[in-house]
Amino acid sequence: MKALGALSSLLVAGPPLLALGAQIPFYAIADQAPDTARVLEERWNFDLAPSPNATDNYIFETVSSLLQQWPNTRYRNGHNIVPVTIPVNTLLYHGTWHKEVPSGPEWVATDPEHSYLFCRAHEAGKGCWHLTLAVTRPLNVLYFDGSSAAKMQGCMDSQDLIAWGHVERKRIFDEWNRIHDLCAWGKKYNLDGYMRMEPNFEIMLCDFTEGVEVVSFLNLVGRHVERPLPPLPRNVTEPQDDEHLLAIHRVIESGHTHNHFPGETRAQLDLTRLVSFYDTDMFPNLIESRYNQERFFHRPASIGEDGRQRLLQRLDEVLTTSQPSGSGVDWTSLIRVVKHRYADRLEILRYMLNKTENTEQTLRDAHVYTQSILPQYLRNGVRPDNSSSTSVQWASPIFEECASTHTRTVRGTLYPKLTYSERLILSSVDGTLREICRVLVGIWADGVLKLELTEATALDPGAVVADWSARINDLTQWLDWSEWVKCRPECGFEETCYIPTWPWLRGAEWPKQPGKPPREPPRDPGAVRAEDLTLKWDRMCGWVKDFTLDDEEDDWSRPQPKCVRRIFPYNDL
Ligand SMILES: *[C@@H]1O[C@H](CO)[C@@H](O)[C@H](O)[C@H]1NC(C)=O
Ligand SMILES: *[C@@H]1O[C@H](CO)[C@@H](O)[C@H](O)[C@H]1NC(C)=O
Ligand SMILES: *[C@@H]1O[C@H](CO)[C@@H](O)[C@H](O)[C@H]1NC(C)=O
Ligand SMILES: *[C@@H]1O[C@H](CO)[C@@H](O)[C@H](O)[C@H]1NC(C)=O
Repeated sequence: MKALGALSSLLVAGPPLLALGAQIPFYAIADQAPDTARVLEERWNFDLAPSPNATDNYIFETVSSLLQQWPNTRYRNGHNIVPVTIPVNTLLYHGTWHKEVPSGPEWVATDPEHSYLFCRAHEAGKGCWHLTLAVTRPLNVLYFDGSSAAKMQGCMDSQDLIAWGHVERKRIFDEWNRIHDLCAWGKKYNLDGYMRMEPNFEIMLCDFTEGVEVVSFLNLVGRHVERPLPPLPRNVTEPQDDEHLLAIHRVIESGHTHNHFPGETRAQLDLTRLVSFYDTDMFPNLIESRYNQERFFHRPASIGEDGRQRLLQRLDEVLTTSQPSGSGVDWTSLIRVVKHRYADRLEILRYMLNKTENTEQTLRDAHVYTQSILPQYLRNGVRPDNSSSTSVQWASPIFEECASTHTRTVRGTLYPKLTYSERLILSSVDGTLREICRVLVGIWADGVLKLELTEATALDPGAVVADWSARINDLTQWLDWSEWVKCRPECGFEETCYIPTWPWLRGAEWPKQPGKPPREPPRDPGAVRAEDLTLKWDRMCGWVKDFTLDDEEDDWSRPQPKCVRRIFPYNDL
């Protein structure tokens, strides 16, 4: 199968989106050129698969996942920066050891289970302090997607590119300077803060006296006492204390309430001003750094100096745009419609084709099922014109209807009103629909040829099932929708389905031992020399290992869902 390389820019319709000269506004895009016959012929060619460097699938899936815990725990390295508004009366929480409203930037949680982890007494019996704020005017916040508060390599690339101009591994835990530098940078745009995610969402709030008022500031039963200095690693042979485990599980639970769409609804996205590191026109350097890399390892860090200039200039445009901007298209719903129409059905079709016995019936069942997904596109009279040809190109009018109906009007009358960011999202929706329809209509048309027009004796159903199964598997891998990431078998009532997330990665508090499996706590903890530890202070969990993804430890680097207990006795996270 040919790859749609140079053609990918044609697929998104119109001239290249960006003129990269520094003085040209990035979102001044020339109007669409009319499609030529050749472009159309290539666009609806069943043999042209997306280029391996195309990012429509990533843009579609990351935009679809914004503000949701589940997909952003699986893929930690964020690739979008989006302005959000926090509406009035939203409560924000801050846990601390003393009764003092922060005079500078500090962190607030959107759920109190999260902030309570930081409600720590300095002395046993004195209790801790928990501040509750309410938003009094819409807060102007910039959201970094992914697990952007996880102190792991890759998670904070986009913040650090803004704050420091580059990404430095040894500054992963430098949260204090990060928040101060981001707040200083955002002053000129009247940004009130930055939204990030770890086991739940948080906001780096730049000013506790602006746009918020104190609802309460309570002295609570703060059982937890700050760890003494100098630090020691937790002795993992000692049982975790129950109260701490309960607090951790309540945080995980509160984060899980935002797992799936609509996610954390207290932040309202402005997709007309989204910036994506999967934008290949704006960040061409990243094409090469992603090449042959699994999505888990995609990082914005290597955008290069020119890429960073474009990022800052684009953010400057985005943050100085008068609002509301854009076409009024509800992109969130459009993307949802696509997912609703295909997420379950593709999963079912994949399941139907993954059978080993009774293949002729499997083939017929899969074919009528596929046809039943597509009836609104099956134009009357579109039939194979030559029964001895194996080409399915005769079905291209059906492919085209399937792939372009949802965006035809956006591509037409609404197009001039679209912002640069909307055009990027539009391309990703079109590229995603094109690939879904290329595969589905391709299978359907192949079935017409094979099941209706081929002599039964000439049919090798096993081979056809294997072929269709491979096509659906490739498609679902390319799309990689988080809807398909589940615990199998489903968890029992006493359990919850959990994707390992920082800082609760099993075994992570111990350094890797040469020649020993890294998940095992060392047999002789006393033998671990302090200088071997790369321990860093973290406000949530005290002293933790500086995680490195050099380990090929699967549930660190490629997080997968698993069932963990949600009531006593807890098992390892
Ligand atoms: C994809 O990107 C890689 C790395 O830049 C490049 O070598 C390759 O030719 C590209 N492939 C296509 C089909 O554009
Ligand atoms: C396909 O079937 C095999 C064997 O029954 C099973 O292990 C595998 O998980 C199935 N794959 C899918 C995608 O259902
Ligand atoms: C049908 O297709 C076959 C194979 O592509 C070709 O050899 C034949 O000439 C075609 N017949 C007609 C009538 O177009
Ligand atoms: C860790 O705890 C166990 C059980 O309390 C104890 O036997 C062991 O000596 C401790 N190890 C260290 C290094 O403190």
